[in-house]
Amino acid sequence: MSYFRDNIERMSGYIPGEQPKDGIYIKLNTNENPYPPSPNVLTALRKVINPSLRLYPEPLADGLRRAAAEVYGVKSENILAGNGSDEILSILLRSFVGAKDRVAFPVPTYSLYETLVAIQEGELVRIDYPADFTIPAQLYSQSAALTFLCNPNSPSGTLVPLPDIERLARALTGILVVDEAYIDFALNEAASAIPLIHRVPNLVVLRTFSKSFSLAGMRIGLAFACEKLIAGMMKVKDSYNLNRLSLIAATAALQDLPWMKRNVRRIQRSRAQLAGSLKELGYDVYPSQANFVMAQVKGWNQKRMYEALKARNIFVRYFDSAGLQDSLRISIGQPREMKTLLQEMALIRNDPAR
Ligand SMILES: Cc1ncc(COP(=O)(O)O)c(C=O)c1O
Repeated sequence: MSYFRDNIERMSGYIPGEQPKDGIYIKLNTNENPYPPSPNVLTALRKVINPSLRLYPEPLADGLRRAAAEVYGVKSENILAGNGSDEILSILLRSFVGAKDRVAFPVPTYSLYETLVAIQEGELVRIDYPADFTIPAQLYSQSAALTFLCNPNSPSGTLVPLPDIERLARALTGILVVDEAYIDFALNEAASAIPLIHRVPNLVVLRTFSKSFSLAGMRIGLAFACEKLIAGMMKVKDSYNLNRLSLIAATAALQDLPWMKRNVRRIQRSRAQLAGSLKELGYDVYPSQANFVMAQVKGWNQKRMYEALKARNIFVRYFDSAGLQDSLRISIGQPREMKTLLQEMALIRNDPAR
């Protein structure tokens, strides 16, 4: 006998990338930023580590939302702050998806979407991406309550252009969520769908501070949408969903955009170099606009490569699921980490015992 609801009993949980214990390793498996957050963030945090921690944080994250509204050219009423964008994904499911409601998205993509649909007892509609990772035509006509588009997509790193997103949003009868966790790493600075929220009433755009702002450990995300959608989602979120330190860190990070942009430029440069070197090693590399690349050798299972790298304390992401077994997703690290990775990959590839 189980105490759990049937769907929870049946589902398998989301498996995050490994977080190795302390030691010397190169961590390229969960798309964290290899550079530290702005020193202003650390200074601001030190200042609030004081007895005020006995008080609850601002329930609606007003200070952070005001700062974000200024940076992104919207009103505070267009923004909801979450404990990482993962929490906002969960708020979205609870807000818009009831049992048996359809939730559609192109695959392969961020696999947490699937887990959240299972928890909510929604109906999963997975549609294969075409080989060029453009929006699949079937996505337009699924009558889904919620449709996800991860842009740039993970694990492919590919980017869908803005006019295609607007066309999709206008064709859908339900909500379109564009998950822009990696958009700051795109070369085209005008690729974001945030400006569309003013004229597309069924669009929600997600951002995270975990990647470009180097704050994965603080758990901060933002949702952008028209006022009506944000007001409804506010009813669903926990009262104090962001802690005092996260609110301070996020606000300080937004006040030092040059720091974030400098790190983004370094990562873009390393991304181009890594893609070139992986191609020399015989891999196909998708054109990535994110802080990772997907490297593939058609028909060659990459599990041994993943395990051999792990044995050398180099962590990359291997997805043991259909269609992805011949690929590795590699986060962009610091240049010396990329150099070691490539040296070890070449050695492993040439090892006759592999
Ligand atoms: C596509 C995508 N969306 C959302 C997230 C979650 O980000 P957060 O750390 O803000 O919860 C991730 C994390 O890897 C991601 O890859």
